[in-house]
Amino acid sequence: MEKMVIKGGNRLSGRVRVSGAKNAALPALSATLLSDEESVFSGFPPVADIATMGKTLRELGSEVESAGEYIRVKPGDSEKFTAPYRLVKTMRASVLVLGPLLAKRRRAKVSLPGGCAIGARPIDMHLGGFQAMGAEIKIRHGYVEGQVKELRGARIHFHRSTVTGTENVMMAACLAQGETIVENAALEPEVVDLANLLNQMGARISGAGTEQIRIEGVKKMTGARYRIIPDRIEAGTLLIAGAMSGGEVQVEGLVFDHQKVLVKKLLAAGIKVEHEYDWIRVTRTGKAKAIDIETEPFPGFPTDLQAQMMALLSTAEGTGTITENIFENRFMHVSELDRMGANIRVEGKCAVVRGVEHLSGAPVMASDLRASASLILAGLSAEGETEISRIYHLDRGYERLDLKLAQLGADIRRVKE
Ligand code: EPU
Repeated sequence: MEKMVIKGGNRLSGRVRVSGAKNAALPALSATLLSDEESVFSGFPPVADIATMGKTLRELGSEVESAGEYIRVKPGDSEKFTAPYRLVKTMRASVLVLGPLLAKRRRAKVSLPGGCAIGARPIDMHLGGFQAMGAEIKIRHGYVEGQVKELRGARIHFHRSTVTGTENVMMAACLAQGETIVENAALEPEVVDLANLLNQMGARISGAGTEQIRIEGVKKMTGARYRIIPDRIEAGTLLIAGAMSGGEVQVEGLVFDHQKVLVKKLLAAGIKVEHEYDWIRVTRTGKAKAIDIETEPFPGFPTDLQAQMMALLSTAEGTGTITENIFENRFMHVSELDRMGANIRVEGKCAVVRGVEHLSGAPVMASDLRASASLILAGLSAEGETEISRIYHLDRGYERLDLKLAQLGADIRRVKE
């Protein structure tokens, strides 16, 4: 296992480029199961979760080859329909193969993902959507087993916004008979990106990015050549790093419209922000000011930047609050930040963050992907040395965040434990 060792206090400055979005790449890989033809993607981040999805596709008979940011997928044996526990347990997004398998192979057997470090995360809305489209769903021996003669279009209303639920149902509906209407659909840019990809593959989807998505089923889908959108969460993480420890940090290759709520919050915290449509520059002129944040579905503040923002607030001037509305257990980083000298008290779904003068380096442990990023940001601004163990969580979703931060002047290195 590897750990990250950071000597805090360096001022970050310079330019850095954002990678492709993990959470757009994962559904894109699943979508390849809807066609018999080859697809080639670019802009893919070579992160562990993408490799896991590649393994899941191989398990389902696909050929998967990757080289740098490129990945080629050719679906194969259409008799295969099982995604095993050993893969799904390491990455719950594997459930994204359910929709395409039901639509194309008429059968799916996918391990139930179970809980994870940030909450229970049920998939009842995904399954309800497939049932509304005529699929018979059973839960047996820890697996979701689904089968159907032919999916038919349906009106599906989600009682709360779900990103992968919307994606799963949207993929299934592409090959269903007739029209599917998804109401209260998730508005995330990754959902829009998937709809764009599916349309390139021959689907007929309109309304992605609004609360009502319409999908007119088609008989056949083709392969695609597709470039994935940039990762707004990685971009946000780098911007928050700049806001905490900058100088002047410019993050390039992003989509400004995906970052609006973060920019609004950084401005409220007293950070100087300049931008064009594909880059944002943050300049810290003094101590950040405390602000209040509530996580919400897009276009609200993303839960995937909550932990990183908490690191920023922990040394801000004054007291701020962070309310986590999406996941019930996404405060595992709090006790680690407190070990570094932060003053954070959790009351239910709200964390009250009293800004301290400075954090101090300490050995800490990462508990999930975004918590790892938060601890790295804290380590960069802390006095002395921070050692972060269980860094494999970071590698699930960030393309060498350590190298990108080092490029900006951070003293950060990976060592074997
Ligand atoms: N929910 C249900 N039933 C369902 C589906 C969701 O109750 O059938 C609940 C969840 O438990 C949660 C809320 O609804 O409380 C929203 O969850 P959502 O379904 O939107 O989350 P997700 O699709 O499982 C994706 C991202 C997450 C990100 C969330 C929220 C992917 C692969 N994952 O998860 O990304 O936090 O949306 O934006 O797209 C990450 O990258 O670190 C990460 C966790």
